Amino acid sequence: MKRILITRQLPEDAQRILQEAGMNVTVWNLDRDMTRDELNSQAAIHDGVITVGANPINNEFFDACPNIRIISQFAVGYDNIDIPEATKRGIPVGNTPHSVTHATADIAFMLMLSVSRKSFWLHKEILKGNWKQFEPIKNLGIELRGKTLGIFGMGRIGIEMANRCKGAFNMNIIYHNRNRNTSAEQQTNATYVSFEDLLTQSDVLSVHALLSEETRGRFNAEAFRKMKASSIFINTSRGGLHDETALIDALQNKKIWGAGLDVTNPEPMQPGNPLLEMENVAVVPHIGSGTIETRTDMAITAANNIVSYFKNGQVPYCVNPEVLRKK
Ligand code: 8YV
Repeated sequence: MKRILITRQLPEDAQRILQEAGMNVTVWNLDRDMTRDELNSQAAIHDGVITVGANPINNEFFDACPNIRIISQFAVGYDNIDIPEATKRGIPVGNTPHSVTHATADIAFMLMLSVSRKSFWLHKEILKGNWKQFEPIKNLGIELRGKTLGIFGMGRIGIEMANRCKGAFNMNIIYHNRNRNTSAEQQTNATYVSFEDLLTQSDVLSVHALLSEETRGRFNAEAFRKMKASSIFINTSRGGLHDETALIDALQNKKIWGAGLDVTNPEPMQPGNPLLEMENVAVVPHIGSGTIETRTDMAITAANNIVSYFKNGQVPYCVNPEVLRKK
């Protein structure tokens, strides 16, 4: 009987699917992430694991857990996992790429709109008793209609963000990727531009790339300096793509107009962070995929990746498919 560890409580479908497939499931039931030692010692007595959040899956983990045959990440992003090391050891890493697309694009769109109309800040002003009268020339936002949306990382989520912005505001779409994505261009009418042009031309710049050594810290002081003073920066990918000190400086010194973050650097953001007091900033606590429908779909996909692997050697959504048996 295969033993599977789930590192946080998930929608019950994950456990049900694994149990129906005859597996023995352990769920980490505490309302916090496992420490490194807890993870390594628990996973050591299991054959597979559904990883949630930032569980570090690296050399140390693999050495401590020689029985582990599959890692199933409850996320599209897998920057917490050393993929080359898993591949070297012949361990497949599954993820949930399609599940999170719409919910995450919704959050990017919501942040863009909230920042453009200062909604988070105005809500806090009302709580402080500061809604006294109608203000004809105060609390003014900016309109998005016809503006240019720049996407950094035009994949599934970037395409959906582009479609929302086109449909709602007829925005002009530009994007930058390592390689051109001609299918995305057809779907969204987007134009491929250099990273430099993305920075200088975007009215809203929305980040949707995975975190890697290539993308880490791409949005630094130099990048923010090149952006329009009227622009909005949105990050729903990973906080590691931006330098948060540089972002704070860019906002304080009006190098950019506003920012919307679902991911921060570091995470979690602490209550005293100056970004939380700024008029043109909206921050939410990494809830891009946080809908009932999406988290349920992620749970089903993560469990199916494991069941399928132990049944027929295949992982439907696999980050390193080269380790799988050829069909
Ligand atoms: C997850 C995410 O909820 O999919 C991702 O990459 O960031 C989120 O959907 C989070 O990573 C928990 O595993």
